[in-house]
Amino acid sequence: MTVTNTVQATRNQIKEWKKSGYTIGFVPTMGFLHEGHCSLIEYSAKANDKTVVSIFVNPIQFGPSEDLKSYPRDFEADKIMCREAGTDLIFYPEVEAMYAKDFCTYVDMEGSLTKTLCGKSRPSHFRGVCTVVNKLFNIVMPDYAYFGQKDAQQLAVIKRMVRDLSMDVEIIGCPIVREADGLAKSSRNSYLSPEERKAAQVVSQAIFEGELLVNSGEKSVKKVTQAMEQIIQAEPLARIDYIEVIDLDTFNGIDEIKAPVLGAVAVYIGKTRLIDNFSNQPMPKKRT
Ligand code: PAJ
Repeated sequence: MTVTNTVQATRNQIKEWKKSGYTIGFVPTMGFLHEGHCSLIEYSAKANDKTVVSIFVNPIQFGPSEDLKSYPRDFEADKIMCREAGTDLIFYPEVEAMYAKDFCTYVDMEGSLTKTLCGKSRPSHFRGVCTVVNKLFNIVMPDYAYFGQKDAQQLAVIKRMVRDLSMDVEIIGCPIVREADGLAKSSRNSYLSPEERKAAQVVSQAIFEGELLVNSGEKSVKKVTQAMEQIIQAEPLARIDYIEVIDLDTFNGIDEIKAPVLGAVAVYIGKTRLIDNFSNQPMPKKRT
């Protein structure tokens, strides 16, 4: 396994692999890896000749009052997890290697995909994500890129960007990996105190309840979101940012469940903002 820190060194390796006719799978991350990230790496390693993981805490996707400075980092532990999951190359750049001092070109997506859910509470977040993922794709030139359903809105946004900008990469969505009690694995779970960690269970409990209701034929969005809200509100340490059930295709709000939907929540447990989601549309079969 190789580690590169510069765009040029990464390109040199990728070009060599491309010359040999190898397929390249890519897993972009912000590090502090857990089994969720590792599952994406394993999917890629199974399906491709070479797997590249980027580890980069992207400053431009954090809002001014968000956790950029305190975002957890542990490159040595990340290296071990990457190696065990089947990574061939880690791209681990400094901020300066990605953003020149006078950097001023962004990918900004219009429309409802980036304006709802997390886009409402994090207005410049998806501009930062689209811009960095676009840059990473230009550097790594992957055939396939792997994203978690955990960040369902991010996955939808990236798929739309790739389609709209005719990018030559296929985006593969991978299932959410959870802790034993249901909490979706996240680097941000490390912020939780033991008491908060226990309280955080309500997030996945609300998701499972919403999923159950929708799958058993409930058609009223209001009834589903109210049932989810009740579960979260019963926990004093939890503060709801949003609970929504929206059209999976358009990301527009709906009153009645007729087509595939995305149920999504963002909840503060203390100061930590956690997200989770469900869909009544089964994920497409992954390429192996
Ligand atoms: P990060 O939060 O590190 O997540 C990297 C990838 O891991 C994302 O595709 C995310 O959906 C996936 N992931 C995280 N937790 C998961 C879980 N419990 N189960 C399955 N997959 C999970 O998402 C980002 O970084 C950044 O926005 C990035 C795309 C790297 C751009 O900076």
